[in-house]
Amino acid sequence: KIIILDFGSQYTQLIARRVRELNVYCEIHPFSKIPELDDSVKGLILSGSPCSVRQEDHPDINLGALIGEVPILGVCYGAQLIAHKSGGEITPSKIREYGRANLSKVDSTNELLKEVDLDSQVWMSHSDTIKSIPDNFEIIASTPQVEVAAFHSKSHPVWCIQFHPEVTHSSQGKIILRNFVVHICRCSQDWTPDIFVDATVSDLKDQLGDDQVVLGLSGGVDSSVAAMLIHHAIGKNLHCIFVDNGLLRKNEFSDVLKSYEGMGLNVKGVNAAKEFYKALEGLTDPEDKRKAIGRVFIEIFDAEAKKIKNVKWLGQGTIYPDVIESVSVNGPSVTIKSHHNVGGLPAKMNLKVVEPLNTLFKDEVRRVGRSLDIDEKILGRHPFPGPGLGIRILGDITAEKVEILQEVDHIFINGLKDKGLYNDVWQAGAMLLPIQSVGVMGDERTYERVVALRAVSSVDGMTADWCHLPYDFLADISNQIINKVKGVNRVVYDISSKPPATIEWE
Ligand code: XMP
Repeated sequence: KIIILDFGSQYTQLIARRVRELNVYCEIHPFSKIPELDDSVKGLILSGSPCSVRQEDHPDINLGALIGEVPILGVCYGAQLIAHKSGGEITPSKIREYGRANLSKVDSTNELLKEVDLDSQVWMSHSDTIKSIPDNFEIIASTPQVEVAAFHSKSHPVWCIQFHPEVTHSSQGKIILRNFVVHICRCSQDWTPDIFVDATVSDLKDQLGDDQVVLGLSGGVDSSVAAMLIHHAIGKNLHCIFVDNGLLRKNEFSDVLKSYEGMGLNVKGVNAAKEFYKALEGLTDPEDKRKAIGRVFIEIFDAEAKKIKNVKWLGQGTIYPDVIESVSVNGPSVTIKSHHNVGGLPAKMNLKVVEPLNTLFKDEVRRVGRSLDIDEKILGRHPFPGPGLGIRILGDITAEKVEILQEVDHIFINGLKDKGLYNDVWQAGAMLLPIQSVGVMGDERTYERVVALRAVSSVDGMTADWCHLPYDFLADISNQIINKVKGVNRVVYDISSKPPATIEWE
């Protein structure tokens, strides 16, 4: 495997994804906690960072102990750190070195740059520049503005690049990463979804033996794939619980239950809408609503799980981005929303946790799901928040409001599917706003509810842009909603990007 040392760059996870696209397994570790370099570690990549090596307390490592152990690739800050610690000189850049540049010099005889073309586009994003490289290093690529775009050690397996090969704007970045990972580090490219499934199912068999496992299904990709992996390992000893919190999409509960049954899973559906509505009565603050929904979920789930004899394990669909220890070099990061609605579950239930997806990124979970023959309808679903429509009804929640929003959402989502737009959108939904507006229907003035439609494109939900859906489509959906859903007389379309807005409205 490859170890990526994270110095806090926004692009660190992208490096990991690119390496994995080469079917090579890699892990991200904070620079301050370097794991032992045993035989399984074939190479190290040092990430970028928002910091400067000229800062007094810049993130630092004992480089001397690593050089010569395995091949090392420094990217951006990683390259500057290697240069700085080996006797090179780093100065603030005089010109902006941000954005696209083209290589004006490339030594394609160097192993790292094999098959990289002169003029190849690279993506720069740094405010320091490497003025002189250490002795015993040589420059292997330059751009018109940045002479030291790539350099390597003449005596040790150390390569450094100032630009970011992991972003798609570096047109041959993948070739560079392949050269490093496959040719220099000699990693075999055998980390495929099929192999992952075989290895994980066999590990799960060893880990779980004859134990009973309980798992909460949500209808989403992660919990479904996690359930199928565990199901392949232990069959009927896996007990799935699918709770209807009354905040799901229209018909979702029965539709999803049906598809799970088709997959051979042992699933119990629990209709608990009443309990959720009761706990939500009168609550208007988004965080209070999230907490109430999380609390009731745990209560219901716990009560159901207790009915199963001898349960030892709680299965969860936790994925890699949730467990990567984040490096915060600019002070502690703030919790923006309490997303992990059911974080308290394992402690309360006193169960051991089994998380077969905790090394995978979302797109990898889908690929594993395909390898397990899970229905595309489940694998291709848009993300849907745990608290469901509860955070799409702004203000307090009532059964009547849920019903209105379910109808609106149904028209919108079905419309996207009918027009072949569903897969072009990363996530879509409707918000019921806590205001009423004036309208006319026939000869009468109305004073009714307003709904907002939201459709975004995104890669991971961290940033997002609104989708430029065709006007004709929006017009048709708006007409259908106002004509068919009683109580709604106005539809608006959300054209904010994230940041500064968020995807959800609460
Ligand atoms: P925001 O609104 O923060 O949403 O831009 C980013 C992604 O997270 C989802 N989301 C949630 N998921 N519990 C969840 O499980 C929550 O409380 C929650 N809030 C937002 C949102 O749907 C989007 O995919």
